[in-house]
Amino acid sequence: MSKIAIRPLGFAAGAEVTGLDLRQPLAAAERGAIHEAWLRHLVLVFPDQDLTPEQQIAFAQKFGDLDGHASQAPSTLHPDHQEILVLTNKQVGGKPSGTHNSGRNWHTDLSYTERPAKGALLSCKEKPPVGGDTMWANLYLAYDTLSPAIRALLEGLEAIHDVTLIKGIEQRDPALVADMKRRNPAVVHPVVRVHPETERKSLLIGQRIRGFVGMSDEESQSLLSLLNTHATSPEFVYRHRWSVGDLVMWDNRCTCHVALADFDQTKPRVMYRCSLEGEQKTGRIVAAAAAGDRTSMLQAVAAVS
Ligand code: SIN
Repeated sequence: MSKIAIRPLGFAAGAEVTGLDLRQPLAAAERGAIHEAWLRHLVLVFPDQDLTPEQQIAFAQKFGDLDGHASQAPSTLHPDHQEILVLTNKQVGGKPSGTHNSGRNWHTDLSYTERPAKGALLSCKEKPPVGGDTMWANLYLAYDTLSPAIRALLEGLEAIHDVTLIKGIEQRDPALVADMKRRNPAVVHPVVRVHPETERKSLLIGQRIRGFVGMSDEESQSLLSLLNTHATSPEFVYRHRWSVGDLVMWDNRCTCHVALADFDQTKPRVMYRCSLEGEQKTGRIVAAAAAGDRTSMLQAVAAVS
């Protein structure tokens, strides 16, 4: 077995994993060491990994089934591998790509589906000279540091996740946005989640939540703001400054993240993402007619609860 070295990068999350060539088959002991480090550090950085799409997919499959990205517009997927979402600000077919501004608000991948991703593996192909960073927040810490009174309030509470709240979605091709909306009616998930492997509690929150079931708009927005501000406090966050060849693998069951627009948008930024399929459906679809109308959506959800 090669000599794996794991070096923590941040207090809240993040560790660098070196001593591995991910193009080579992974020994069971290596897989075990990575898995253990993933559960402990939540975000793993593998530097200098020049992977083909096939190699990225093969490595990702060691950690679970891959999401086939049925929730995404086909034009945003790799032409030969639907398991790879191509996040690029380069033009595609002479038009701005459908992912040119992806990930710009705090989110947990695919929370707007019934089965949020278990994790994701993002490979940096091209990056601007400076910036284009990504930040992850540790949602175990966010949960653990809430007061008992707020934790009690959240227990049993459900949130409405809405794909139309992706920041900047209105700047994308309207046909593509319509496709995304059709594929992803609003869904409801519990706010407090239990990690299926560590059995620790964390939060499923972020900026793509329209409101909480049974609450007024005002109540929802105040509570959401409190939770998101708390969860993304700097002390809970790891910020990654990318290098080409980095592969970053994160646990989506206890983190949320944001891709920063902190770079010259005329410079290319290209990333390939594999999403690990969630172990279980934790969501249920909200009546389509209510989508987009916050008050009627809350009423519709309350009616079926
Ligand atoms: C994502 O939100 O999955 C993409 C993050 C990034 O592009 O840095």
